[in-house]
Amino acid sequence: MNKLIEKNFVLAASQYKLLEKNTPDSLMPRFFDPAGNKSGTSNTKWWCSGFFPGSLLYIYEQTKDEEIRRIAEKRLAILEKEKYYTGNHDLGFMIYCSFGNAYRLFGKPEYKEAVMTAAGSLASRYRPAINSIQSWNSSERLNCPVIIDNMMNLELLYWVSDNGGDAKYRDIAVTHANTTLQHHFRADNSSYHVLDWDLEKKEIIKKVTWQGAADSSAWARGQSWGLYGYTMMYRFSKNKAYLEQARKIGNFLLNHPNLPADKIPYWDFNAPGIPDTYRDASAGAVMASALLELGQYVSKKEKKKYVRAAKQMLLSLSSDVYLTQPGENGGFLLKQNVGSLPHNSEVKVSLTYADYYFLEALLRYKNWYLKK
Ligand code: GLY
Repeated sequence: MNKLIEKNFVLAASQYKLLEKNTPDSLMPRFFDPAGNKSGTSNTKWWCSGFFPGSLLYIYEQTKDEEIRRIAEKRLAILEKEKYYTGNHDLGFMIYCSFGNAYRLFGKPEYKEAVMTAAGSLASRYRPAINSIQSWNSSERLNCPVIIDNMMNLELLYWVSDNGGDAKYRDIAVTHANTTLQHHFRADNSSYHVLDWDLEKKEIIKKVTWQGAADSSAWARGQSWGLYGYTMMYRFSKNKAYLEQARKIGNFLLNHPNLPADKIPYWDFNAPGIPDTYRDASAGAVMASALLELGQYVSKKEKKKYVRAAKQMLLSLSSDVYLTQPGENGGFLLKQNVGSLPHNSEVKVSLTYADYYFLEALLRYKNWYLKK
């Protein structure tokens, strides 16, 4: 694993320099579709804008390549203004994965300030009537949606309160996690993607999907967000209920009959046409990273199970099936990701967040499970 991790980071450094070259200075990379040899970019308001600098920072952490650090800092500079963004709940992805990592590595006060300010922006979406942060603004189809992905954004809030910020952010994170625990999960510990709330009646109108195969299905990346979210919430709070939920989700996923032998899930655990449908490497990468953290909090026997599964995921993602060759896919790392199949958007493409959680999982494996 040591050699494999090193090799992956050498590839990552050269690929990400290429990705930088392929991306205009004012934008962020978004996807690469090998079918049409087509790349896509986004502005910094897109929910994924923190992943490019975040991945560069993970690459720097491992390689100490100063060119990579320079690119990371250049990209942080165009992202910084989004600390004020209040258009959706994605501030954690956007600002914590980028500025949070930058502060962890370099300790610059301005990086911390960006994270602190972003907490206020994210908290502006907290709706006391439903004890939740509203994920997306209301639309024709949804009134007040709260999605399972939102668990990920709690990391920023909790971190801010634990690092000198207002305690109210921690309270919001805990309250949101408790509401999600109460309403988002089914009896088998899979989760709904979207809960649509009526703010006045303080009631759930419906439980539906946005990116999954069906309202009742287990959309793969959503399951991974839940697993990661409750493991992370346990890290901060040491609340056993969160650990218990993470273990339940982990066991639902690892025991699922539709989890393939290479442990990289189909885009939805209940996708029609399994096994002849798309894998989602991003769901596998998030799951691997989460399982590695979960392994830190459980018995030796249980840890073995999670770490073994995560290792299999990382080995699979490092194979030619999922990992690009130098120069391929515009400079991204992982292929075979699905953004939103129901919208026929970003299917079988490279995506920034898949790379980010893959790199994070490789570092976690190295730092926590390899002998120094
Ligand atoms: N948070 C959006 C996604 O996972 O696609």
